[in-house]
Amino acid sequence: MVIVAPSILSSDFANLGQELLKVQGSGCKWVHVDVMDGHFVPNISIGAPVLKAIRRSTPLFLDVHLMISDPEQYYSDFITSGADLVCFHYEAVEPEKIMPLIKKIKGRHVKVGMSIKPKTRPDVLAPYLQYLDLVLVMSVEPGFGGQEFMPNSLEKVRQLRAEIDNNGYQCLIEIDGGINENTAKMAIAAGADVLVAGSYLFGHDDFAERVKKLH
Ligand code: DX5
Ligand code: ZN
Repeated sequence: MVIVAPSILSSDFANLGQELLKVQGSGCKWVHVDVMDGHFVPNISIGAPVLKAIRRSTPLFLDVHLMISDPEQYYSDFITSGADLVCFHYEAVEPEKIMPLIKKIKGRHVKVGMSIKPKTRPDVLAPYLQYLDLVLVMSVEPGFGGQEFMPNSLEKVRQLRAEIDNNGYQCLIEIDGGINENTAKMAIAAGADVLVAGSYLFGHDDFAERVKKLH
């Protein structure tokens, strides 16, 4: 069964505690936290102090997606603030610094993920798959919720699924952006393990029903 990770980017930030209870009440074990710096992406969202408050109010697995230009400077703050998984972007780190960053994050006893934007080829992830707990395929340009799903992401998921399975790696495949009951089916068929969904879930009275539909 796939993991559904509701993205709080589309939640009511004035009632974050209630929104997290809604996530828990729907049976989800993960929550997806989008961190944006206004530089790597043209939007600013939330930072480590908010993550710390989230950590205090929920036992959910905190899946932290860093859409920031300098993950090497900030990853530690997010771990200290309670992240269970830190996912940084391939595009944000110089190639020779990727492996050291993976090791530093793992050394803090949290899970590590790496993400690719829609224009990045999945091949770039291949050398790292054996060390990663998760790869995140963006199915929209990162920065905003509520965008339309980009179908070219499905081929990337299929390619990564084959690479991971053929080598017996443990890495999960997460897909993020434009997930609804239709695109979820395609993503699962392509081999995704984790579905991030924001605007499809939050702001609707039938949150738990929608989570079921995604499954
Ligand atoms: C976009 C974020 C996503 C976003 C998804 O940059 O990474 O996590 O919240 O939102 P929806 O599900 O509305 O596309
Ligand atoms: Zn995200």
